[in-house]
This record gives sequence, structure tokens and C-alpha cells, in this order.
Amino acid sequence: MKKRFYITTPIYYPSASLHIGHAYCTTMADTLARYNRMRGRDVYFLTGTDEHGEKIQKNAEAANKTPLQFVDEIVAGIKNLWRELQITNDDYIRTTEPRHEKVVQQIFSKLLEQGDIYLGSYKGWYCTPCESFWTDSQAGENHICPDCGRPVHQAEEEAYFFRMSKYTDRLLKFYEENPNFITPESRKNEMINNFIKPGLEDLCVSRTSFDWGIKIKENPKHVVYVWLDALVNYISALGYLSEDDSKFKKFWSSETEIVHLVGNDITRFHVIYWPIFLMALGLHLPDRVFVHGLLMMKDEKMSKSKGNVVAPEPLIEKYGLDALRYYLVRETIFGSDGSFTPEQFVERINVDLANDFGNLLNRTISMINKYFDGIIPSYQGQIVSFDKELEECGLTAIDNYEKLMDDLRVTDAFVEVLNYVSRANKYIEETQPWVLAKDESKKDELASVMNHLANALRQCAILLSPVLLKAPKLLFEQLGIEKAKQGYGTIRDFTIIGGEKVSKGTPLFPRLDTAVEIEYIKNLMKR
Ligand code: ME8
Ligand code: MG
Repeated sequence: MKKRFYITTPIYYPSASLHIGHAYCTTMADTLARYNRMRGRDVYFLTGTDEHGEKIQKNAEAANKTPLQFVDEIVAGIKNLWRELQITNDDYIRTTEPRHEKVVQQIFSKLLEQGDIYLGSYKGWYCTPCESFWTDSQAGENHICPDCGRPVHQAEEEAYFFRMSKYTDRLLKFYEENPNFITPESRKNEMINNFIKPGLEDLCVSRTSFDWGIKIKENPKHVVYVWLDALVNYISALGYLSEDDSKFKKFWSSETEIVHLVGNDITRFHVIYWPIFLMALGLHLPDRVFVHGLLMMKDEKMSKSKGNVVAPEPLIEKYGLDALRYYLVRETIFGSDGSFTPEQFVERINVDLANDFGNLLNRTISMINKYFDGIIPSYQGQIVSFDKELEECGLTAIDNYEKLMDDLRVTDAFVEVLNYVSRANKYIEETQPWVLAKDESKKDELASVMNHLANALRQCAILLSPVLLKAPKLLFEQLGIEKAKQGYGTIRDFTIIGGEKVSKGTPLFPRLDTAVEIEYIKNLMKR
């Protein structure tokens, strides 16, 4: 395992406020960043905004603002959203910053000079929302954008092109030598069959039809195509080609695991164009592009331009940050498509957090209060016949959790933790502490049950801490667990607990009234 970890989200378009689809990707990245920090890796976590392009220019005009005024306001809202979600990004890159624009211009000049970029003219079908040109065959008879399904229009302009075909073989070889580069696997096959096998066409990398973009120094009536501009953020933010490029040297290297998280709408840009641009620049290639699914609303993709969105802020306000973060991480398997429904939201919180996890803590605390005057008994070995099995379940959950998280399978990793929680609940039914308590000769067994439960809770709280930010702290407080016993270094220790004074706290997650809360969320969605 590499000692450093560089993780990025897409840089979102500040064309409108963000919705829970964007919060989904950023929360996943944050969970991975927190996990890797917990494991002691040197982590760098980047997010930001992609602020140029025709769509932003048009939205700004419609709002009677300059593009910069327009994006400034939306970016302030986005930064505020990430604060509310307690996102721990190390930097926030805006493509309108000089530190980024300078690098894009230098890169363009270099690629032009070395002949990868040439001047030609473009005629084709243009999709404004996607900022993409399409050929006749791609647009089809109905003249529809193959990516988003909206109508495209004919456009022609003088334009610079990038010689993609020159790099096709190298790209395929790179895929072959790095089988994990694109995950899930199915996305790779899609890319090869849809774009590479038919032959990579040269990519148009400049525009003259609008001017909200980075000007090409050699020919300033052109602005750089927004995707070339945007992709460069991943290295401009690290200081590539700048006076202080120490971060670039540190995090854009083979000693760092470099991971881009992207939604399936932008796979092509990240697994075809981005590696090719990097090859042309003679730079190191990222380790992984992890493609996550898009959240749907009913049968449609939730999207800013369609306006069928759910805003994260009111959900946080009403249900708390832990509930929203947990829902996002757990409900949709990372890598598969998902949907947002109020029913699933309420059920997920009630079942996993209130019933399983929260209730395990409540039951444990009230039994320790009742049977041991609130003091957790210390570890005496595997006393009860179920102790061994519970410990083994714990160790397996921890092993699997680490393997899955290291492989970016975030949802599956948390399923392992919740399995352990369920196993601990089952252990209560199996050992029947209320029966043991009636028999003075079973005092040691009762003590062992309480000790094992408290430790399982401690372990689960540590494992859940990359996603739940408040509940683990409350749990440690209620069980009286000191700082030294909260660290990841102690995760496999079953003997560490004993002598703590528990206190009766408030439930971590109050059970939600299903009908009432579903109605409440439906109303939020109507706005
Ligand atoms: O594409 N469900 O920006 P964008 C889940 N600026 N995730 C969603 C989602 C949904 N319904 N909708 C959006 C751009 N996302 C470019 C990126 S990167 C160099 C440039 C998330 O604002 C998902 O991660 O359209 C998707 O890939 C991204 O937002 C697109 O954001
Ligand atoms: Mg989009």
C-alpha cells in the first residue's frame, strides 16, 4: 500500500446550487479521506468548481450578472454546503483563479508546440448543457445528445484539435497493464466498445463562439475547451508548473495512490481524454478512476439543469448530519446506480441507526447500570460459549472493512460494520443476560457479556467514524471510554475495556415516525 493518498471529486459547474447528487460524491470522497487519515496515510483531498463555459455565461446573462459575479455567489453557497457536511478537503480549486489559468495556458502552448494540437475547423452537432460536439452518427436521426438525451444543434467554427488517435494504442496498453484503473469493470467495457473501438476522433479543444474561458495566448479569439481547462485542475491545484511545485512532486508521483471519483456522466473525459493529455505532457498517470452511479429521482437523473433536485441542507437541519451522511454512504452501493426516495431515507435511519446501532448502545448501557452499578467489567477471556464467535465476527468485519475500503468499496465496507452490530444484538438474545443475572454463580458470564458488548460498540464506533461524525463521540462519552482507547491502533484489541463508568445518555438516533417524516421530506421535494 502506498503511503500517500490523493483523492479528488469532480469540480462541479457552479451553474446552479448543488443537490444531493453532488453531496453524494463529495461525502464519499470525504469518507475515504477520513478513513485513510485514520489509517495513518498522508492524505490530500481536493474539490472545487469548474467555472468557465457557455452554459455559465448564459446563466449569468439570464441573471443579469457578469459571469464572475454569478459564479462567486454560487461558489459561496457550495463552500457553505461543504462546511455544513463537514467536508475535510485540503484545498478548493476554482478554474477562474490565476494559479489555474496560467497552467492551462502553458499546457496548451506546450501541446501546440509539440504538434499534438493543430488548428482546423469544426462542423458538427453541439450539446450546450454537456459542452460537447457530436458527429452525425453519434447524434443520430433525432439529433439527440448521446450523453444526456437532450437536443443538439448544428455548429461550425475554426477550432484547435487534439490528435487523440495517436495515443489510442498506448491508452489500451495502459488499461491492460493497469486492470484496476477503471472501476467498476463494466464501465471500462462500455468505454472501449463505445468510444475506442469505433476509433478515437480528434478532440476539439477550443471555442470561438463565446468568450467566458481561458484565452489561448497564441490566438486569443479562442478560449480553451472547458474539459481541457477543467481536467487540468487535478494538477494545477498541486502547483504543477508553478514556482512552488512541492505538493505536485509529493502527491503526483508513484508513491501516492491517486484516485479520481467521478459520476458515470463524465467517465469518458476521465478515462480517455485525461490519461491521453497526461501522456502527451509526459506526466505520471493516476491509479484509479472510480465511477459512481447517478442518483435518480423517479425515473430521471437528478440534475441541476432539469431542476428535479433534492437539496441537502434541509435534510441536515431536520435529521442531523450523521443521518444524511450515513444514508448517502450506505443506501446506494458505491459504483451502482441509485435513487433518492423519502421512504428509503426514513427506513435506512430507523433500521440501521436507531434500531440496530443506537439500540445496541441503549441496551448495553442500561444492563451495565442495572447489573454492575454502571461500571464496565474488565475482560476475563472467552467465558460464555458465544464469546469466541462474537470476537471472530468482529475480527472478520475489521479485516473485510479494511480490504473493502482500500479497494474503494465504501458501501460494502460499512455493511460489514453493520453486520457486526447485528451480530452483537443477536449475541444479547443468545446469552440472555436477564437470565444470567438471576443466578449468582453466573456472575462471571454476565460480566463477560457486558464487557464484550461494550468493546464491540467501541470497535464499531471507530469503524463508523469516517462517516458518522457525532455519534461515535457520544458513544465514547456515554460508555466513559477515554481517548487512548478510541484510536485505530486499538481496533483489534478485545481486552482493552474495563472499569469505565457509563452514563445514561440520550439515544444516538431517535426513532423517526415513518408516515410523518415521509410526508415532511415529500414537501421538501416539491419546492
Ligand atoms: O460534469 N447523482 O460538473 P457537474 C449522483 N464540471 N451524482 C451526481 C448527480 C446525481 N444525480 N448529478 C451530479 C461536471 N452528480 C464537470 C466536471 S471534472 C474535471 C469536471 C455528481 O456539476 C457526479 O459526481 O455536472 C457527477 O459526475 C458530477 O456531479 C457532475 O457535476
Ligand atoms: Mg452535469
